[in-house]
Amino acid sequence: MLFTIISLLLFLPSLANSSESQTWIKAGYWFSGSEFPATDIDSSLFTHLICGYAYINNSTFELSILPPDETKFSNFTDIVRRKNPTVKTLLSIWTQNQNFAAYFSMTSQLSHRSSFIESSIQRARLYGFDGLELNGVKPGPNTNNMTDMGLLFDEWRSAIDRESKNSSRSPLILTMEGHYMPSQNTTSYPLDSIRRNLDWVNIRAYDYHSPFQERFTGAHSALYDPSSNLNTDYGIKEWMSRGFPTKQMVLGLAYYGYSWTLVDPTDNGIGSPARGTIATDGSMNYKYIRSYWKCEGEKVLYNSTYVTNYCVTSSSIWIVYDDVEAIRTKVSYAREKGLLGYTVFQVPNDYNWVLSKAGKILQVKYHVTDPSHSPTRDSNMVFPKEIDQMESSGNDDNAYMATEKIAISKPARI
Ligand SMILES: *[C@@H]1O[C@H](CO)[C@@H](O)[C@H](O)[C@H]1NC(C)=O
Ligand SMILES: *[C@@H]1O[C@H](CO)[C@@H](O)[C@H](O)[C@H]1NC(C)=O
Ligand SMILES: *[C@@H]1O[C@H](CO)[C@@H](O)[C@H](O)[C@H]1NC(C)=O
Ligand SMILES: *[C@@H]1O[C@H](CO)[C@@H](O)[C@H](O)[C@H]1NC(C)=O
Ligand SMILES: *[C@@H]1O[C@H](CO)[C@@H](O)[C@H](O)[C@H]1NC(C)=O
Ligand SMILES: *[C@@H]1O[C@H](CO)[C@@H](O)[C@H](O)[C@H]1NC(C)=O
Ligand SMILES: *[C@@H]1O[C@H](CO)[C@@H](O)[C@H](O)[C@H]1NC(C)=O
Repeated sequence: MLFTIISLLLFLPSLANSSESQTWIKAGYWFSGSEFPATDIDSSLFTHLICGYAYINNSTFELSILPPDETKFSNFTDIVRRKNPTVKTLLSIWTQNQNFAAYFSMTSQLSHRSSFIESSIQRARLYGFDGLELNGVKPGPNTNNMTDMGLLFDEWRSAIDRESKNSSRSPLILTMEGHYMPSQNTTSYPLDSIRRNLDWVNIRAYDYHSPFQERFTGAHSALYDPSSNLNTDYGIKEWMSRGFPTKQMVLGLAYYGYSWTLVDPTDNGIGSPARGTIATDGSMNYKYIRSYWKCEGEKVLYNSTYVTNYCVTSSSIWIVYDDVEAIRTKVSYAREKGLLGYTVFQVPNDYNWVLSKAGKILQVKYHVTDPSHSPTRDSNMVFPKEIDQMESSGNDDNAYMATEKIAISKPARI
């Protein structure tokens, strides 16, 4: 408790110049394949919820939703608004794997883009979503045409504005999920178009290391890395150095980790020799890490150089992930850098909402009588009730039981 208050006080000066606190985004993905019912989402912890995924039909180029998802998506917004009437919802459109050819073909011709754009707006309105997200396009020389992506965003924004005028409703929010760096090799995202047309970019700041790529333990969502550029701070600075406004960046937080089996149980830090993994796709969701591996107390270590937690089990399994400390530090980072907020992947992976509350807790509400002065220790700061509730909250066994089965059987990511 004392520690919490001290860290909040240390954190406060960076809030002083954030007059935009009402537009701070606390977003989270919900993926229908998680089998976590939308009714169980504590939407009061979020300002935006992103529902995944819609697809692109490879012959009509229209937005398409798989039949089993139609019902879930059509009442997603109504459901999550029951616990938070002001939460905004976005429909996310998947472009990877089998859908990549359809995406590529859609962006390559004006008529294909129009079909996609019109159908996306129509479907978002029909189902009551407040916005749309394009998910999974990475910059790269062989994989896609960044010029076409720029055209897509110009045309999408115009269509959204037209529809808004015609319907007298607020324009749909338009976002994309983006790679942690705006460029790969020599290819970069169409940053001017993104800046002009999108409300913000959800920056994917994880998956830097995995047991399939490396025989060494690695911090998959490192905020910093003294020995490589594969880290979030580097990526964010790259976006900034190309003139992309921090106000349009939303930091991605992973509610999952990766696991390795250690070669030598006594050599168990970041960068230690390891072999393979026990998880199907190497990833493990946070709920599973807590509930199955019982990563708690002294088993959980925190490395502030990388800003990551890791857990070493008695069976030499090494699990790297973000626990409360790493999440808090990253949310503070987002604040200090002037980013617009954070987006978690994915909401169902949380364990008794501890991570979502850890992020939210930094939303210290304060008002300063004289706005020309920074808030000080005693300037009408109101500490949110969650601080005490969080410290004292026990386990919610029902919530945990209801989802454990799924948590164990499903890979954490997709
Ligand atoms: C694409 O749309 C066409 C025409 O509506 C439909 O016949 C086809 O099944 C759709 N393809 C997929 C993969 O959904
Ligand atoms: C279109 O999608 C369907 C269903 O996923 C797939 O069977 C078909 O091969 C795809 N067609 C093309 C031209 O990619
Ligand atoms: C969602 O919509 C379907 C079909 O309209 C309905 O049967 C179902 O009860 C709704 N679910 C909830 C939780 O409202
Ligand atoms: C990318 O798209 C632009 C605009 O449609 C086009 O002029 C250019 O030739 C395309 N480049 C490649 C490599 O496909
Ligand atoms: C404008 O709105 C009307 C009524 O909702 C609709 O019928 C029409 O298609 C819309 N026009 C455009 C250009 O979106
Ligand atoms: C492009 O970047 C990827 C990922 O950073 C790297 O694996 C690949 O080798 C690079 N390709 C070239 C041609 O440099
Ligand atoms: C974090 O891990 C690295 C690599 O093992 C180590 O060099 C560094 O001292 C650790 N940082 C802290 C603060 O423990």
